[in-house]
Amino acid sequence: MAKQKADFPVSDIRRYLEPGPIVLVSSAWRGERNIMTMGWHTVMEFSPSLVGCVIASGNHSFDLVRHSRQCVINLPTTALTDIVVGIGNCSGADVDKFDKFGLTAQPSHKVKAPLITECHANFECRIKDDALVNRYNFFIFEVVKAHVAPRPKHPQTLHYTGDGVFTVSGKIVSRRNLFRPEML
Ligand SMILES: Cc1cc2nc3c(=O)[nH]c(=O)nc-3n(C[C@H](O)[C@H](O)[C@H](O)COP(=O)(O)O)c2cc1C
Repeated sequence: MAKQKADFPVSDIRRYLEPGPIVLVSSAWRGERNIMTMGWHTVMEFSPSLVGCVIASGNHSFDLVRHSRQCVINLPTTALTDIVVGIGNCSGADVDKFDKFGLTAQPSHKVKAPLITECHANFECRIKDDALVNRYNFFIFEVVKAHVAPRPKHPQTLHYTGDGVFTVSGKIVSRRNLFRPEML
């Protein structure tokens, strides 16, 4: 059945396409550490495990990540909603966000950037390719180590739709039996 559709501003299509979930990117460089909130990321390859993302050059995190060539992508759940928003609305140039938001910086295994204990999962990353950084602020990372809490299997993650509003992951729908094995 065809749906009636209205013209829609192309600058707002993020409401439908923005990849989720919202993540927290932690970084460290020369004695400084920081966290930023991020929604603009995408899986690019499974093996090696590649993730691409935009870190705006005006963000304090940009220089820490660019110079250290590392970061940790941390997965928060709804328990951290206000903190996720707070971290995305202040700059590490002014405050230590681990202290300000009462988060625990835990040593990573393979990178110097700390992982955030309170998050459901932590993905240690190294820059794989910086060819698009100058032009698009687009970093291509390889995930070199992953830490994931075994439960819950489907954590309640945040998905940003712009304008200060998030949706929350919820109902689980499985069509596993319809997939070719190599597509799983
Ligand atoms: C929900 C949300 C999603 C965001 N996604 C991104 C993103 O993908 N890339 C980006 O550069 N900034 C993003 N931001 C903005 C940064 O988190 C924000 O500018 C932050 O203050 C940067 O911190 P820093 O200057 O300490 O690095 C987002 C903010 C929020 C609240």
